[in-house]
Amino acid sequence: MNTYQKRRDELVSSLPKNSLVLIASADEIIRNNDAMFSFRQNSDLLYLSAFNEPESIALFDTDNKKFHLFCRDKDPLREQWDGKRLGYKGASNIGADEGHDIKEFDSKFLELIKNKERIYLQKDNIHLSTKIDALVDQAKKEFGRTNYSFPEEFFSISPILHEMRLFKDEDEISIMKKACSISAQAHIRAMKSVKPGMFEYELEAEYVHEFMKNGARDCAYTPIVGSGNNSCILHYNQNDRKMENGDLVLVDAGCEYQGYASDITRTFPVNGKFSPEQKLIYEIVLEAHKNCIEMLKPGISWMDVHRQSIETITEGLIEINLLSGSLEENIEKENYSKFYMHRVGHWLGLDVHDVGGYGSEGDWRLMEPGMVTTIEPGIYIKEGLEGVPEEFHKIGVRIEDDVLITDDGYEILSSEVPVDVESIEKLASSD
Ligand code: GLY
Ligand code: MN
Ligand code: MN
Repeated sequence: MNTYQKRRDELVSSLPKNSLVLIASADEIIRNNDAMFSFRQNSDLLYLSAFNEPESIALFDTDNKKFHLFCRDKDPLREQWDGKRLGYKGASNIGADEGHDIKEFDSKFLELIKNKERIYLQKDNIHLSTKIDALVDQAKKEFGRTNYSFPEEFFSISPILHEMRLFKDEDEISIMKKACSISAQAHIRAMKSVKPGMFEYELEAEYVHEFMKNGARDCAYTPIVGSGNNSCILHYNQNDRKMENGDLVLVDAGCEYQGYASDITRTFPVNGKFSPEQKLIYEIVLEAHKNCIEMLKPGISWMDVHRQSIETITEGLIEINLLSGSLEENIEKENYSKFYMHRVGHWLGLDVHDVGGYGSEGDWRLMEPGMVTTIEPGIYIKEGLEGVPEEFHKIGVRIEDDVLITDDGYEILSSEVPVDVESIEKLASSD
């Protein structure tokens, strides 16, 4: 049985009878006038089928376990302009039991909901839920005097489907390893090419080149290439500054490979040599990164990993006199948050900030085999930061790797790219 079929079976079998599940495709999005952004399929649909077209809905019937695909019909004229379509008559090619023209959705749906009790929809698809709501009302009116019953309750499929997506199967892990490997090579390429006078976007081009050349046509998110003070802006992506001698550059860039994200950050000196202050900060972040990764194993609370990052960073900042007072006091008063203001990581998968719950106070999620998380502590000292000597200004450091939780510990998926000061200086100072 193929992977998609296995996932569809698992999902449908976990739901009550008399239910329909609807998963909609992503929309095409206009970039300007009539030019579109490149199409990216909805991640839930990508998880359940290899179908990669807009204007479609996958519908699963839990009574007979049928997979209905509603999609566009073939259209020679549109295909001449926009490329091939599967066409609803070809639905069996992607494992659907029945294919229907998306234009027939309303009438077909009015038939399919007869005697159903529940409808499951994706959490954020307001457009589809409004439409389904109206169709159910219409069905009740049209068939009001018959013996059919109609769904009274709508549910979100997201918690169930996203819990499945949180645990990566073997196919996903091997794709994610490849994504990380491509991104790691891109970071190495960038470190080798960086030099003062280059623009941030020139460095970005090194990443995009390496991604594409290796079959990863898209970035998993817009690359962050922040040099100098820009290294302190967490999601900076203008990437248009000329890098200067003495700057650090923080690059958070990862490719998307076969739908799966990688998410790697490295911070390196533009001229190939960390200044003493840059090195001090880098070593604290590296220590936090190492401590957090080393504690990863099944049963560890996600929040304990975050607390570890806070503790190591706070301790380091006290040691170099950027914070004063005791460790406990600085943690209690959250004084570290002036330097470290984000969480230590997030789930990674089809989405870069992947789905799956983290728990909440008193009930934080525990790590389990098959989860993939990023570990990405950082320290950001922007220009003019109060109470910090000037020689530490404009230093932003984040170190981010992608880590799989295994049966007895962890595996770093992005370990091909060096992280220690010496190896980074060696790469960044090479011609
Ligand atoms: N690349 C975005 C993040 O690290 O969360
Ligand atoms: Mn991340
Ligand atoms: Mn990142």
